[in-house]
Amino acid sequence: MLLGIDVGTGGTRAVLVDRRGVVVASAASEHAAIRSEHIGWAEQEPEDWWRAAREAISGAMAAANLTGAEIQAIGLTGQMHGCVMLDAEGEVLRPALIWCDQRTQPECDWLEAKIGRERLIELTCNPPLPNFTLTKLLWVRTHQPEIFARIAHVLCPKDYVRFRLTGEYAIDMQEASGTLLLDVAHRQWSEEVADAAGIPMSWLPRLFEGPEICARVSDAGAGATGLAAGTPVAAGAGDQGAGAVGMGIVGPGSVSATIGTSGVVFAATDKPTMDRLGRLHTFCHAAPGLWHVMGVTNGAGLSLRWFRDTFAPGVGYDELTADAARIPAGSDGMLWAPYLFGERTPHLDPEARAAFVGVTASHTRAHCVRAVMEGVAFSLRDTLTLFAELGIPVEQIRLGGGGARGPLWRQIQADVYGRPVELLAAEEGGAFGAALLAGVGVGAWPTVEAACAATVKVADVIEPKNAATMDEAYAKFRRVYPALREIGRT
Ligand code: XUL
Repeated sequence: MLLGIDVGTGGTRAVLVDRRGVVVASAASEHAAIRSEHIGWAEQEPEDWWRAAREAISGAMAAANLTGAEIQAIGLTGQMHGCVMLDAEGEVLRPALIWCDQRTQPECDWLEAKIGRERLIELTCNPPLPNFTLTKLLWVRTHQPEIFARIAHVLCPKDYVRFRLTGEYAIDMQEASGTLLLDVAHRQWSEEVADAAGIPMSWLPRLFEGPEICARVSDAGAGATGLAAGTPVAAGAGDQGAGAVGMGIVGPGSVSATIGTSGVVFAATDKPTMDRLGRLHTFCHAAPGLWHVMGVTNGAGLSLRWFRDTFAPGVGYDELTADAARIPAGSDGMLWAPYLFGERTPHLDPEARAAFVGVTASHTRAHCVRAVMEGVAFSLRDTLTLFAELGIPVEQIRLGGGGARGPLWRQIQADVYGRPVELLAAEEGGAFGAALLAGVGVGAWPTVEAACAATVKVADVIEPKNAATMDEAYAKFRRVYPALREIGRT
């Protein structure tokens, strides 16, 4: 039995997976709400992740009626980019600044001035963005120097849970790619970036490939969770890397489109892709020898949730989407620009703002819902447009997250991407992928690719029906952001 642990944003989930790749039990525990003292700030307490992880682990073991000794290996995944700062004794120095914290544009500007945008992209394959860990560390240096002076270790969220479980400071290549401190092309820390930014290399955890066993459960970790001391722990991957493994996106040409709170289009590549403009994230993949590119829409599932909470409180998503399914493709000319949380791909603009466009008195709530779902898919298509520009092959698109669950968003995605989309027999998210990585680490499968081939099955393929209509609407959607930017800046 393999255990995958996903330290997400809203909560932590643990899944137990057998050697056939079947999920036999799972349990989850919610995190306390994100703390946001100012607009754009987002902090969480690492201790709360550890509490939730303990509850999820023991919950999954109880549900499967298993003892710790029956678990052969553990894999970790979680929300990426968060910055956990520890002193020399391993004590947390302040709440973690998490991935969606947007306060660090000044630190991004400082890095660009210090290192140069092009040089930074050459060194790390990525531009400075407020989401990335290094920028959060620099904010603490400027604003809380007394805390910065005591830092001895920096970890990402799931790696803090690993530390509590094993006592080891370790990170995987895929997660490390999102810190802005990794030389992504050479799969090693970038001393040049760390030196220029003034970050001691000794603060950085040891680097491992995703399936590598990098630690073992300590006596203290065992006592806290019911796991057996000595159980091997694989390095794992950030949520996008592990999620891609769980969906079988492990070879060039395979692409996923996942709509969660944010939306991600993810492609596996056999070499690092250099976008000189830095519009896509280029990271090491969780599978050794592979890289990936991804484009991120910040407000994907969030758009539908915001609409529901604001204009249809208490109404279920099934009811809203059933109404929207009766509206013709193209929403009778209404468009939604989903920039509720600024935007990453392709605009890299934390100041971007959302909008409905083309509204008339004939439009109903159902039109709005359909327009929101179409607008999110258009925004994900922007990433596919960049893939085409950069020559990244797309042979198949697999759907994941909430966007794969209901019939309407599936069909909208096939129509907007203009190609068939695949649905998986079971889509279990990052925790499942983390369990597969752990399985490879202990030899259950020889490679990550073999683990995916043995466990990930396509259940259905949805063909596009309204591609021409959606092509026309997409051409109009592309003109919305430049107009919004003009309005926002005047
Ligand atoms: C990836 C990203 C999100 C977070 C939260 O770049 O920011 O996937 O990991 O889920």
